[in-house]
Amino acid sequence: MKGLVLSGGKGTRLRPITYTSAKQLVPVANKPVLFRVIEALRDADIDEIGIVIGDTGAEVRNAVGNGSRWGVKIEYIPQEAPLGLAHAVKISRPFIGDDKFALFLGDNCIEGGVSSLVSGFATSDHNAQIVLKQVANPQQYGVAELRHDGSIERLTEKPRQPRSDLALVGIYMFDQHIWEAVEAIKPSWRGELEITDAIQWLIEHDYHVHAHIHQGWWIDTGKRADMLDANRLVLEEITPHVSGFVDRDSQLVGKVTIEKGAQVINSVIRGPAIIGEETRIVNSYVGPFTSIYHHCTIEESEIEHSIVLENSEIIRLPNRIEDSLIGRNVKLHTSPMKPKAYRLMLGDNSDVGLL
Ligand code: DAU
Repeated sequence: MKGLVLSGGKGTRLRPITYTSAKQLVPVANKPVLFRVIEALRDADIDEIGIVIGDTGAEVRNAVGNGSRWGVKIEYIPQEAPLGLAHAVKISRPFIGDDKFALFLGDNCIEGGVSSLVSGFATSDHNAQIVLKQVANPQQYGVAELRHDGSIERLTEKPRQPRSDLALVGIYMFDQHIWEAVEAIKPSWRGELEITDAIQWLIEHDYHVHAHIHQGWWIDTGKRADMLDANRLVLEEITPHVSGFVDRDSQLVGKVTIEKGAQVINSVIRGPAIIGEETRIVNSYVGPFTSIYHHCTIEESEIEHSIVLENSEIIRLPNRIEDSLIGRNVKLHTSPMKPKAYRLMLGDNSDVGLL
């Protein structure tokens, strides 16, 4: 089987971070979500992966490369505009050919990977397979209604009044019949060719679509709260290691990873937490569920349940930072300048909660 990963789209819900960068490259526990997707496919023995890219294509290519780092072969498939998931599938036909394939949305994170799903589908006679998860807010997703025997009655994309709480997870498997479906469907009310409609077409034309209900956690990392949730769940799973320097006055409590070249000086890190390469934590407290990426500085400050992206500085803040997603090259510090005032340089769509 081949793998197809969608890494185009707009990422509007993660602005301002995604003004300058692909949402699929925002790290969860210091590893971009897209890398986790590639690793999940590689672990399912898929070694030929196509990645659909859009406006942020150059950045994605730069970060991912040709796949040799993971022992897979990666091909890029440019999409001229985000015209929908089924459109992205449609333009990938030359790459896929008539093989069965797994489609994985590049911003989805799932517990336990996809190995058993892929091998189950590869050896089955199903024409397609979807993955479902019970959620509290089904109107934000594609939604499935199932019959008592587990067969699918209907799929609807982001219904206003959902008739079930089973959301479509961004992991799908198809055989060659999907090509008929993506050719047949028309754009939805939001102007996109919906993969949900393509699968509904398969169902209506008597193809066999199998629904698997996922028992572990699943997160679509499109929004800040979802990113923080994913970060929390993944941090709990990783095996901690200390490759950087921790001085004698510091304390690491619980599952804490200190990556190569990082320094922890006179500080307390309470896990699960991860401190990235070449990052310095000095006279500070880093609390649970926090990921500080590479080349950051945290000095005389406290932070927890947050993600900090590369090259950022947090210095001498009088109050603790919580529940925050802090972008790249951000400088957050107190200033001795008079008069005492907030001096801000914030991008469009920033969201700052001051005490
Ligand atoms: O996350 C699961 C949900 O994903 C499903 O429940 C929905 O049924 C499905 O439509 C999809 O909904 P989203 O609104 O979350 O999709 P989003 O626009 O965020 O796109 C998902 C990924 O695909 C993201 O990494 C961007 C990429 N993409 C998106 C579009 C519309 C493309 O590469 N090309 C596109 O044209």
